[in-house]
Amino acid sequence: MKNVLIPAGSPGSRIPVLAVSEADLARVIRKFPAIQRNWVQNTGFLARAGETLHLPDAKGKVVRVLFGLGSNQDERMVFGKLPTMLPGGDYELTGQVDEPELAALAWQLGSYTFDKYREPNDSHVRLVAPRGTDAGNVGRVAEGVFLARDLVNMPANDMGPEDLERAARKLSKAHHATITVTAGDKLLKDNFPLIHAVGRASSRAPRLIDMKWGKPDAPKITLVGKGVCFDTGGLDLKPPAGMALMKKDMGGAANVLGLASIIMAAKLPVRLRVLIPAVENSVGSDAFRPGDVLESRKGLTVEIGNTDAEGRLVLADALALADAEKPELLIDMATLTGAARVALGPDLPPFYTHDDAFADSLASHATAVDDPLWRMPLWPRYDTLLESRIANVNHISSGPFAGSITAALFLARFVEQAKTHVHLDIFGWTPKARPGRPEGGEAQGIRALYALISEKYPG
Ligand code: BES
Ligand code: MN
Ligand code: ZN
Repeated sequence: MKNVLIPAGSPGSRIPVLAVSEADLARVIRKFPAIQRNWVQNTGFLARAGETLHLPDAKGKVVRVLFGLGSNQDERMVFGKLPTMLPGGDYELTGQVDEPELAALAWQLGSYTFDKYREPNDSHVRLVAPRGTDAGNVGRVAEGVFLARDLVNMPANDMGPEDLERAARKLSKAHHATITVTAGDKLLKDNFPLIHAVGRASSRAPRLIDMKWGKPDAPKITLVGKGVCFDTGGLDLKPPAGMALMKKDMGGAANVLGLASIIMAAKLPVRLRVLIPAVENSVGSDAFRPGDVLESRKGLTVEIGNTDAEGRLVLADALALADAEKPELLIDMATLTGAARVALGPDLPPFYTHDDAFADSLASHATAVDDPLWRMPLWPRYDTLLESRIANVNHISSGPFAGSITAALFLARFVEQAKTHVHLDIFGWTPKARPGRPEGGEAQGIRALYALISEKYPG
């Protein structure tokens, strides 16, 4: 990761960036030298949100940058726009900076680029960490977010199940975690039938990645991430528009690895486990079929309603394994349903849990760190939508309603012993760039979860 934050108090010259709201602009420029005041007025700068204006001295040298905050400041990561707008150089924030640590994080997150397949942009737009910010924390969080983004942005030809395994091994090595991987037909032998069934049609073998870190007797937190490296829909093939972005269907895996990276870098006093069923949902003569009945790891028989609902199947076996050791907190993250986007759009992932106190806490941490999440209900009445006439459960509802809820209800059937279970149905992608959130792969929910976990288990 390109670290663009300069430690507070280190020497060097910086161009001040003066943050100003629309309402304060007139008052602020009153104190400026006439040449700068006139420049502001003649260029029509109004301090609209995200607007910048370079101010010269008498010789034409840029001596400060005005940065507009707009009128209502509802975009709390607005400072994340600056690294994409300013020329390379060193800057410091002055004026109205209400949330300095979030501003520093937004700046770092806004400097992200994905350059694996082209020449990197070498310009460094650096920021002196504003006073009162924990630069170490900002760096660890950004590192986790960048890892998640990189993994999602990588095209599926270079991010298959084995590549995802390699990424997990690399992270594991960096933090002295242990890792075991069960791949191919060994999945059948070790009783992960659903992971095997979903992944078996691909020439790139399915696998279950199992990473452990921390002291065995510390509180157990287990993260499970959907690692569908490409989702064609299987025999229930997706149409082109629906398939176009499906390299991101391992977004849950990318996010749990990002979250694990932050937790391990901060050395939180927890026993962490990360489980990633990594598969490719392909079309082939060996593909699982609609109407098949498969026995899951847990023993429940599952009737396949649609091979495009593959995520919940691979998660079911991983959740059953996770649940067996009764973790204190079991978190799963998945790009699980299109229905979640219909309900809440791409920027606001729903989460589901039976634990009301946990839900309240997660919602308030999400707001605090501007990593929005919204609780949706595990509505018990909709459980009947998953009834099968020939198996213990159907894995989808036959109707068009409540698709994200029924997916969550299906997952919940495989969790009985974890103290708290939360499921996040994420999008994992920013369709249109926003400050601090470049277009492309995105981490969603991990900053909120980290805030909660680090408060509950302080290092
Ligand atoms: N990976 C998709 C869900 C998805 C699609 C997430 C687009 C984000 C953006 C998942 O595997 C899927 O295809 N789900 C189906 C389920 C349906 C067949 C019950 C869906 O949501 O349409
Ligand atoms: Mn699918
Ligand atoms: Zn999928």
